[in-house]
Amino acid sequence: MRDILPPETARWRRLNAVFADVVSAAGYGQVITPLIEDVGVFTRIGEATDVVTKELYAFEDRGGRHVSLRPELTASVCRAFAQHRPAALPWKVWYTGPNFRQEKAQRGRYRQFDQVGVEVLGVDDAHLDVEIIALAAEFYQRLGLTQVTLVLNSLGEPEDRAAYVAALETYFADADLSEQSQTTLAKNPLRVLDSKREHDAVAIEGAPQISEFYSDDAAAHFAAVQAGLKRLGIDFVVEPKLVRGLDYYRRTIFEFQGGTLDSAQNALGGGGRYDGLVEALGGPATPGIGFALGVDRTLLACDDEGVFGDVTRPLDVFVVDVVGGQEAAVLTAELRAAGLSADRGYDNRSMKAQMKLANRSEARFAVIVGADELADGTVVVRPMARDAGDQQTIPRTDLISHLKDRS
Ligand code: HAM
Repeated sequence: MRDILPPETARWRRLNAVFADVVSAAGYGQVITPLIEDVGVFTRIGEATDVVTKELYAFEDRGGRHVSLRPELTASVCRAFAQHRPAALPWKVWYTGPNFRQEKAQRGRYRQFDQVGVEVLGVDDAHLDVEIIALAAEFYQRLGLTQVTLVLNSLGEPEDRAAYVAALETYFADADLSEQSQTTLAKNPLRVLDSKREHDAVAIEGAPQISEFYSDDAAAHFAAVQAGLKRLGIDFVVEPKLVRGLDYYRRTIFEFQGGTLDSAQNALGGGGRYDGLVEALGGPATPGIGFALGVDRTLLACDDEGVFGDVTRPLDVFVVDVVGGQEAAVLTAELRAAGLSADRGYDNRSMKAQMKLANRSEARFAVIVGADELADGTVVVRPMARDAGDQQTIPRTDLISHLKDRS
């Protein structure tokens, strides 16, 4: 787990603001769910997934309740939907916040990481699959990321998927697999397709393809999603071996892969349909689809591409008060109340020391009050940028309008 310090935190805030903008413009409302849920909420993600069997921060609380820190938000949102039963469908929500998985930490993989995401409950329409993929694509575009590949697949209807899993079991039983993949095969045959081990490459290459098992409905839905993406000019690659790490998916699944990160951490985000999940959490049968994008990884990808750099806004004013500090207290309060950002020095330091602080703060103006200014009811306004003009002495009462005129 990491600390995120300023100025990096400003980028987190801005990224969240960009995301909120994109999804609010599409009619999504924000949902906030608890960090801790009954562990049963998360075991519905899939009993055979690493996220549940190895990575949950699950514990017994003081009341003897089995709870867990959330490893993701989809299950929580579906639990909230099942509990509150919003009447107006589709229920379109977005979220942001931390998640916890006990993983082996490395660059782009942390035990606490943030996601932004959306979930839509109550609509089956392929146009919705297209809409949410387009929202994620627009978000990356707004950040300035260009090396993002949209990888798409469909897992078919639950019956198609079950038939496919059975076919994979039969096929892999006779194939030459690494020991680790043999263990995976016993628990979750689909995940064998995810193996990046060289030993498994030949076996995976020759494996049956999910598309051979699609029902007519599943094939039509997948075709409609692809046609819709093409209509919007969104590039994608169909990857029949894309399976994703969570078990609740049906039909459309997708991942956004970054071009600059190590392949094990290159998924900047992902999502898909999970039509049975609300029901599994005690709600009515409800189709659902969504995605979550990893904030930590997205920012790493931005760094690698040299986009979305420092977003901190410089201060408007640094107040230099060499007459005891009272003036700085009043002036900073007035400036802040007028909507200007202002900071000051403390401990009654020398003029030189305070000007050094003003420089370091990168404020656009230093506002200086000395004994003469105090006596005359004036202040000195000094532009801090090199060629931003000369300093001026102005009546103190004009300070705010003067600064506003110059910004
Ligand atoms: P996920 O693929 O497990 O899907 O996570 C989504 C994204 O979260 C990943 O692509 C990655 O960027 C980020 N992420 C996951 N684990 C870590 C980690 N340990 N460190 C840093 N970043 C990480 C889900 O969570 C689903 N709930 C997505 C979804 C929403 N499907 C439908 N609706």
